[in-house]
Amino acid sequence: MTTVLRASPRGFVNTPQVAQTAARALRYLQSGFSVHLRGPAGTGKTTLALHLADLLERPMMLIFGDSELKSGDLIGRSAGYTRKKVVDNFIHNVVKVEDELRHNWVDSRLTLACKEGFTLVYDEFNRSRPEVNNVLLSALEEKLLVLPPHNGQKSEYVRVHPNFRAIFTSNPEEYSGVHDTQDALMDRLVTINMPEPDGVTQLEILMQKTGIDRTQGLKIVQLVRDFRERTMALLAANGNGHLQASNLSSRNAVSLLHFSSTLRSCITIAKVCREHAIPVDVANEEFRDIFADVVLSRSNLNLVTARKILAEILATEKEPSQPQPENGKDTAFIPYEEEVLAYIKQSQGVRVSEIQAALNINRVEAIDALRSLIKKGMLMQRDDRLYIAQKQLQASPPTATPDSSS
Ligand SMILES: Nc1ncnc2c1ncn2[C@@H]1O[C@H](COP(=O)(O)OP(=O)(O)OP(=O)(O)O)[C@@H](O)[C@H]1O
Ligand SMILES: [Mg+2]
Repeated sequence: MTTVLRASPRGFVNTPQVAQTAARALRYLQSGFSVHLRGPAGTGKTTLALHLADLLERPMMLIFGDSELKSGDLIGRSAGYTRKKVVDNFIHNVVKVEDELRHNWVDSRLTLACKEGFTLVYDEFNRSRPEVNNVLLSALEEKLLVLPPHNGQKSEYVRVHPNFRAIFTSNPEEYSGVHDTQDALMDRLVTINMPEPDGVTQLEILMQKTGIDRTQGLKIVQLVRDFRERTMALLAANGNGHLQASNLSSRNAVSLLHFSSTLRSCITIAKVCREHAIPVDVANEEFRDIFADVVLSRSNLNLVTARKILAEILATEKEPSQPQPENGKDTAFIPYEEEVLAYIKQSQGVRVSEIQAALNINRVEAIDALRSLIKKGMLMQRDDRLYIAQKQLQASPPTATPDSSS
């Protein structure tokens, strides 16, 4: 049976960052395009997709990508058959028998959404095999859905209702269990790269979902971020240092830096602390245990190194400072950004450890600066080395050698 949903994600949190992404996506949907929200795990893709479907005010059909999914699950299939037998004996010495066998066709979610003009949310669509998603190509471009021949008839064409919209979500292709996205499908969608939820968004979601107070929520967000940044800094510096080399050595380090959001870890810690009245305090044994259980399992470092970083973080808890909304613009001042850029400009293809040594800064400071420069498109990363982005090289005149004596 197919269920039509009225999408209305409960407790949706709308911060400036979320509102900006939602407004971008909604603009495309209102102009008749389908959108694709792409990003690492836990960045709020599914939640935003449901929110957008709600804003469109049409009934919603929800499909989850899966490698077992078949095209029949999308468009429909023959389900059993109906047999009709008519025995006509109106004239006593004439018996006429008509025996008809018809396959029953059952529409599936995509077909129904196309016919009725519903909103289709196809969550994690790149977990389905690419060929299964082929049926979407003509539906999105020619606004025709092609149903396979059945009952001995030719293919049937369904005209796509003008209100039909599709919202896709996907995880990066480096994730296990996901397939490469098809160029032809990507070409028919507007893709929005979901940003990592900023500090304000994480905190608001945390408070909304778990009921934790602002001060405690803030501490959790900062501790988890601290841990993430230090482990990522180590990974970036060592290339694939302590990772399972076969899995991660070929991964582009940029994607490594954005491997998954810290939001789910924060929610888990906050929920458990709140429900079991455990104070968010690094001196509290139980809190330390919860924190370790949640963050260590999500770290790609080996356990010994990860534990060491964890101990350092818990020993040097900083005073929480109010996070600033990022609002999609990079206005915040990042220390050492200019120095790092100048250093890389004069020595192409450097490692993070070389930057640290040359500028006498620690790993967190170096990675913060690098992240910000990568985000602004000024740098690119190949293997474990950083280079000035090509367009930057073309645009800027040769720079003065930075003073590395400071
Ligand atoms: N704007 C928001 N308002 C309220 N809760 C949110 C919001 N964004 C994300 N969340 C919460 O954060 C968590 C992660 O969000 P979500 O499941 O949407 O992420 P995702 O990007 O789809 O992750 P995955 O790739 O693993 O499926 C969920 O518990 C969700 O409820
Ligand atoms: Mg999701």
